[in-house]
Amino acid sequence: MKKKWWQDKICYQIYPKSFMDSNGDGIGDLRGILGKMDYLKDLGIDVIWLSPVYKSPFLDQGYDISDYYAIAEEFGTMEDFDNLLAAAKERDMHIIMDLVINHCSSEHEWFKEAIKNPDGEYGRYFYFRKGVDGKEPSNIRSYFGGNAWELVPGTEDLYYLHMYTAGQPDLNWYNPEVLDKLYEMVNFWLEKGISGFRIDAIMDIDKDISFPSYYEPDSVDGLRFCKILTEGVGGFKDKFSALKKATFDKYDAFTVGECFGVADSDMKDFVGDEGLFSTVFDFETHSLIFRGSCWSDVPEITFDEWKNAIFHGQHLTEPYGLRATVIENHDEPRGASRYLPEFARNDLGKKALATIHLMLRGIPFIYQGQEIGMENMPFSSIEEYNDPNTHMEYEKALALGFSEKEALDGCLRFSRDNARTPMQWSDEVNAGFSSGNPWLPVNPNYKEINVSAQENNPDSVLCYYKKLIALRKAYSDVLTYGRVEEAYDDIDNLIAFYRILDDKKVLILSNISMDEAKIDLGESKATVLLGNIRRAGEIVDSIFKLAPLEALVLKM
Ligand code: GLC
Repeated sequence: MKKKWWQDKICYQIYPKSFMDSNGDGIGDLRGILGKMDYLKDLGIDVIWLSPVYKSPFLDQGYDISDYYAIAEEFGTMEDFDNLLAAAKERDMHIIMDLVINHCSSEHEWFKEAIKNPDGEYGRYFYFRKGVDGKEPSNIRSYFGGNAWELVPGTEDLYYLHMYTAGQPDLNWYNPEVLDKLYEMVNFWLEKGISGFRIDAIMDIDKDISFPSYYEPDSVDGLRFCKILTEGVGGFKDKFSALKKATFDKYDAFTVGECFGVADSDMKDFVGDEGLFSTVFDFETHSLIFRGSCWSDVPEITFDEWKNAIFHGQHLTEPYGLRATVIENHDEPRGASRYLPEFARNDLGKKALATIHLMLRGIPFIYQGQEIGMENMPFSSIEEYNDPNTHMEYEKALALGFSEKEALDGCLRFSRDNARTPMQWSDEVNAGFSSGNPWLPVNPNYKEINVSAQENNPDSVLCYYKKLIALRKAYSDVLTYGRVEEAYDDIDNLIAFYRILDDKKVLILSNISMDEAKIDLGESKATVLLGNIRRAGEIVDSIFKLAPLEALVLKM
């Protein structure tokens, strides 16, 4: 593997709307983030990924962009952005933006022009098609439910394609003019000094634009999941390479792809030395959710499924690259609520989970609040949810015959809003997030789980994250590049692996169990580098017992 500047970095995702509100309007903003830069530096963060901060009607929380060159008023101004960028540079930190270019917003000038004259220049920026037999051009379902074709207002049978909400028309990646405009915009931000992009929904750009009028339905709504449009088309690599060459390559940018559905055999082309991306997210464990007919009947993940998914992800990229490791993000429930069994949803268990995440091979992405062990939100009714995807899943469950309670239970487990509630800074009003009325309710557990309570407590989850990150930096070579070798596979509910590089060897153990686990190290004793029970520097015997929920990093 060729060495690159971003390989050993620790990344942190900020969901700006919920991070820190500086002006009391209930919405997080750039100045709020600016005020927390020292917090992030102190945590050990090198790269900040900002979820979209561009101008947007916020139908899909900023993933619907109406002006790629403007900052959303809710978040501040371009000057605020420049100040944030300067503050990052002063601290030797990097900022990467979210790049949402499969679609824009229906409020974007391009789309407004397009619907005025679908046969004109801007009409070719999108996918417009005539209806068939008085209905939509085809029976495909958008990611967020309902037909992915929307009638153009004021017409009788002209539709546009939106793989996400109707407010997110897909951009026509087969029109070179669109590509030129996008390249120009990407270069504008890189020229400004950002270090790269997290690239949204990018696998959707390459689709079968013959748009067959009928697919075999996959559910009671008579529709077929729109992902089928992108399957087996074969043009993705060329499209993305052209973008990369025209933009990222010129700036040595760090790019992280949100790529679902990459075949294992293709991964080399995605993250290898000559790969399309610097890295792509490892969604192996998250993808375990894609089962069942809807959220209400997704089976619980068993420990072994989880463990196998983790190691599958690890081994897949090991020979040639690094993937970006995550346990949660703004589209997923909180990792602590999802992966830890109930008895483990406490500080010890959260530290054990953190140990796994931060010691795996890859580029760790920590999602805001993960570092203090934030948990899922106990919403009490469907009305409290903001996320369109959650509403769609709720309706879908009802249509499939689940009761309201079962439908809501599905949302409690999987809603994206679980991770979007305001960051919990303190036990003061609104968790110190805002002096106004937060756009999404604060999790009632903020009195116990918050930054200020943890900052001064050396045994807190937050301080443990700091230690894990510091350890990762102190042993950067083996923890960045070292291969992964599973260990103690015969012990139930234990995640155990070595990281090995030349003569350096570290053993990571996380006992997600109510029982002790007997560990036999063979000949040697070992030194504790970090533990959630044992202290750094302690020596463990060659045979010892791991306590329930104990996590250890050992130098062998
Ligand atoms: C990605 C984003 C998600 C958004 C979608 C459409 O999956 O992470 O939040 O809704 O793309 O842009």
